Amino acid sequence: MAIETLAFLKTLEQRVGLTPEDKSILKSNAEWGLEIAPQMADHFYAYLGRDQEMNAILNQTEGRVHRLHETFIQWFHQMFTGMDDWGTEYAKCRWHIGVIHVKIGIVPQYVVPAMGVVVHEVGKTLKSHAKPEELQESLGKICMIDLAFIEQAYVEVARSAVLRETGWSEALFKRLVATGAASL
Ligand code: HEM
Repeated sequence: MAIETLAFLKTLEQRVGLTPEDKSILKSNAEWGLEIAPQMADHFYAYLGRDQEMNAILNQTEGRVHRLHETFIQWFHQMFTGMDDWGTEYAKCRWHIGVIHVKIGIVPQYVVPAMGVVVHEVGKTLKSHAKPEELQESLGKICMIDLAFIEQAYVEVARSAVLRETGWSEALFKRLVATGAASL
């Protein structure tokens, strides 16, 4: 896969403006993040379950929803801890999450509104727990970074599959996409 995950993470940090202050506010609220994570998972999977297509994916295999609750809690907590201070491990983990979603056919039109639900629910909970506005901003930024990883994985997996199967060059692929877009 033609992506260097740590470099991608650093680029996204620049783009969303994730600062050392954001990281420190996230870290100092990590325990709170873990506390509210199960409740966030409940909202998240209730939302996915209300959508016919996503509900079908969630229930495709036995025990999937249960497993997802656990992985969601880990994911949510990691946004606060940064795992290895938002280093190689964090970047690899987020890339892996992206690739898993591509493999099981989770498309951008599912993921973007789902992340919107996380941002919305966490915002409401922050208010009711009288948490500072800065924490809301920092969380919003890290959610956007994680979202960008999932979306970019979709593009990269599709592009590398086409290049591998066809033997086309990157330049030819880009030209064909541009031509295809022009005719839409
Ligand atoms: C905010 C966006 C999302 C986040 C942060 C998220 C998070 C995760 C995480 C952490 C995993 C576990 C990856 C692993 O095994 O290492 C996972 C897997 C999965 N996610 Fe998501 N997810 C998101 C959106 C969605 C959406 C929209 C769906 C739609 C149905 C979905 C369905 C699944 C499924 C089916 C799996 C695989 C479960 C299995 O192991 O069988 N996710 N997700």
